[in-house]
Amino acid sequence: MELRLTQDGTPTLFHPGYGEAYHPRQGALLQARRLYLEKTLTHLHPAPRVLEVGFGLGVNFRVALESALQRGVRLFYLAVEKEPLPKEVLAQISLPLPRAEAVFAALLRAWPTSRFLGPWGELRVLFTDVREVGLPPGWATAVYLDPFSPKANPEAWGLPVLCKLRRSLKRGGRLATYSAQGAFRRALKEAGFRVHRVPGVGKREWTVGIAVGAPPG
Ligand SMILES: C[S@@+](CC[C@H](N)C(=O)[O-])C[C@H]1O[C@@H](n2cnc3c(N)ncnc32)[C@H](O)[C@@H]1O
Repeated sequence: MELRLTQDGTPTLFHPGYGEAYHPRQGALLQARRLYLEKTLTHLHPAPRVLEVGFGLGVNFRVALESALQRGVRLFYLAVEKEPLPKEVLAQISLPLPRAEAVFAALLRAWPTSRFLGPWGELRVLFTDVREVGLPPGWATAVYLDPFSPKANPEAWGLPVLCKLRRSLKRGGRLATYSAQGAFRRALKEAGFRVHRVPGVGKREWTVGIAVGAPPG
């Protein structure tokens, strides 16, 4: 897999199977902070519990962790990843996040590991397809929906997955994603989210879904 530099100076990889990079060219760190961290309000939450679809290079995880460490709150992070990258590859992706990088270096020594604990909190990784996985109900304060795009990977964005994510998200919790695709937004609404179009950075629109009402099923 080819290593590429994004415009904010942070690295990403290009996945030849999906024909897409793991992060937008505008910036891996930029997207993790401005979209996933901030649009879900993870950076303000006193006890954040993040559910992520697509752990990838762990950029979103490290950004959430850096924020939690800076604020002195514990982070609980549950990721679903069907194609974990080898530790040698992950070790090449360093980020300007000193506190989180120290934790990530220790994590890599045990990688691939399904449970990693520390005084900072806990990371659990479910090494399977999100379509097959069972998720804890009403657990998450935020969902980071970050598989490859609906065009390249439509199954990860379908109604069954979105209903599952909704059931695992607490009422009032937020799901964020970079996709603004119409079919995806309609399915998100059907799954029990109030759908907001938000201005993107380096992209016209992102999507935020707020968990309202009862989850379906
Ligand atoms: C765009 S990358 C994620 C980048 C990552 N969030 C980060 O912070 O570096 C997409 C990831 O989703 C994973 N993925 C794609 N489809 C999936 C599925 N159906 N179930 C679980 N993981 C999936 C891919 O293996 C890949 O690692």
